[in-house]
Formats: sequence, structure tokens, C-alpha cells
Amino acid sequence: MADTDLSKLMKQEVGKAAADRVQSHSIVGLGTGSTTAYAIQFLGERLQRGELENIQGIPTSFQAEVLSKEYGIPLTTLDAVDHIDIALDGADEVDPNKNLIKGGGAAHTREKVVDSLANQFIVVVDSGKLVDKLGSTFLLPVEVIPMAITPVMKKLAQLGGKPELRMGVKKAGPVVTDQGNFVVDIKFEEIANPGKLEKEINNIPGVLENGLFVNVADVVLVGEIKGDQVNIREF
Ligand code: 5RP
Repeated sequence: MADTDLSKLMKQEVGKAAADRVQSHSIVGLGTGSTTAYAIQFLGERLQRGELENIQGIPTSFQAEVLSKEYGIPLTTLDAVDHIDIALDGADEVDPNKNLIKGGGAAHTREKVVDSLANQFIVVVDSGKLVDKLGSTFLLPVEVIPMAITPVMKKLAQLGGKPELRMGVKKAGPVVTDQGNFVVDIKFEEIANPGKLEKEINNIPGVLENGLFVNVADVVLVGEIKGDQVNIREF
């Protein structure tokens, strides 16, 4: 099987495993990205089959909102509920302590709000996302309000990173988030203390949120290839 097919299969199976963990009468945080898209699809299919009832979703992005509507998942907002039972979301990197880098889809600000509020946050990834140290394969995304982009990039460089403004694909100019802000991706030689760096970056005036998720994930479901089958591992 080609690598792209294997990656798709891992994402599908782990998305399905996460959707299977949702129970009736739940308020569900709905994450962003290609893996969570499968979780949203399978959740919608369980609802249509009558396996689940009375689900309310809280989307973390415009993408999640559109997909949820497509698959018939009723939506609500944080103003209308007093808790979130479970959140399903992807990640760009996962370390052995279940700390994450997120924001590959520029949705990490809303994702952090929703995922942190959930009583149980389940991360869904394929095995390629597992790393020993955060920052080893993926740049750290930071959402910045546009008027502060220049001073914020200087401060990020002073913290030891190499910041780059994320540019659009099939769109001239920078990526604009669902909140109307820019995203800076930073290369750090090493992220020795993710919790400390998360706070230091968020302390820079003009930064809205960064993609380090420290002590937020409860369960990580990993889709991995074993022989010619996908195995789901939990940690
Ligand atoms: C979006 C995210 C995504 O969850 C992350 O980028 C993983 O996406 P994918 O499942 O497509 O690899 O953080 O902001």
C-alpha cells in the first residue's frame, strides 16, 4: 500500500475509535484537522444509525463547524452550556508525557479553549506524530494580532526561536485565522521545558495563544500499522 493510503487508513481508524468513545447525552468538543474530520464523520454516522442520541457539538473552527453540519451533528456554543463532557482533537506532535504541539490548521486558540474545558480530552494521531521531544519535527505555531506582528516576532527571536510568518497556499499573503489574526511558526533548537515556554510566549503583548498544550490531554489514541492492519494503541 502507498504511504498516503496507509496514513489515511491510520487517521480513519483512530478517528473511528475516538467517535466510539462518545456516549449519548454528551456535549462534545469537535477538533480541527484531517484526523478529527474522520472522528466527526463517524460520530455523525453513529447519530444517523440511532446508536447515539442527544449529542451537542462545540466546534473549534470553521472547518469543524462545516463538517459537523454536513454529518448532521447538532451544534451549540460555550455560552449555552456549563461544561463539555469530552473533546476529540488531533495534534501535530505528542511527547511521552502527553504534551502536544497543535496549530497545524491555525485553529489552536479555539482548540485550547475547548479541549481544556473538556472533562475528558482524547487526542487522535497516527504514529508519525509521536516524538521524544516537542519541536523536533514541527514548528511551534503562535497566533498574533496583526498590528503587533513586528514587535512580537522580535520578542520570539529573543526567546531563542526562528520565527516565520505563515503564508497562505492558494491565497496571496499571510494565513488569516478564524479570528482574523496572523500565525507565526517558530523553530526552536530545543524545547526543554514546554510548560515554561508556553507561559513565556503567551506573556508577550500581542500574542493571543501558542500551540503548546501542556497537561491538557487525558488520553492519546494512536493509529499504527501492524503487519497489513491498523492497530489502535492508547496511552
Ligand atoms: C489544527 C490542529 C490539528 O489538530 C493538527 O494540525 C493535526 O491535524 P491533522 O490531523 O490534519 O494532522 O492542531 O490547528
